[in-house]
Amino acid sequence: MSATAAEPETAPPYRPPTHVAVIMDGNGRWAAARRLPRVAGHRAGARAVRRTIEAAIRQGVRWLTLYAFSSENWRRPAGEVVDLTGLLRQYLKSEIDELQANGVRLRIIGDRTRFDPDIQRDLVAAERLTAANRRLNLIVALSYGSRAEIVAAARAAAEAARDGRLDLATLDEAMFEGFLSTAGVPDPDVIIRTSGEQRLSNFLMWQAAYAEFIFLDVLWPDFDATHFAAALAEFARRERRFGARPG
Ligand code: FPP
Repeated sequence: MSATAAEPETAPPYRPPTHVAVIMDGNGRWAAARRLPRVAGHRAGARAVRRTIEAAIRQGVRWLTLYAFSSENWRRPAGEVVDLTGLLRQYLKSEIDELQANGVRLRIIGDRTRFDPDIQRDLVAAERLTAANRRLNLIVALSYGSRAEIVAAARAAAEAARDGRLDLATLDEAMFEGFLSTAGVPDPDVIIRTSGEQRLSNFLMWQAAYAEFIFLDVLWPDFDATHFAAALAEFARRERRFGARPG
């Protein structure tokens, strides 16, 4: 990340969305097209992560959520899982100072207990180090699945009721949200998916209730600031009514 990444440069000609979420897809196809091993695609994908964080800061986006590893990704061949977790380990070490210098607060959602203990420790350390940063809230979904998140929230609500901390009769959507891993996080305004696939793939299903979806025909490792800006411009063109009638 360049030292100037955090400087507000030319203001975009539209109001940026508060929260952008991204399903980063197409690393494997990018590598295959170049006759490279899949891990080369993931490495290039990690470079695109860095570019996207820079772009989000420049565009004035306050929340950025990246789907880096789904709960289903554990079912990939063992070698690829090792490559992906190794890349995460490396990324945490190589990028944390830049995140800190650029005022990025890192948070993780998902089942982090499935990662090796050293990765779990680095995740906690990175979250603690960056906890006071306010320029960009970066949420990385790791071993994340939306159904599991909703079930965990239901379980937590039931336990709270059992322990007398919650009157189930009063449980409403706002209270339920407080049991999700994204408690206190504004819902994503826009969800971008790269690689031409048009699915949510168990990502932020509760939180995406009113999100705009933007599907791009670009493979994730090729994603750059231009694609990010174009997606934000497309978002700005869409009229959002949250189910209400046009005024
Ligand atoms: C989808 O491509 C991408 C992933 C499963 C992993 C995303 C990981 C990164 C972008 C790099 C690492 C990120 C961090 C934060 C260290 P795919 O493999 O499903 O591609 P394909 O559909 O073309 O096979």
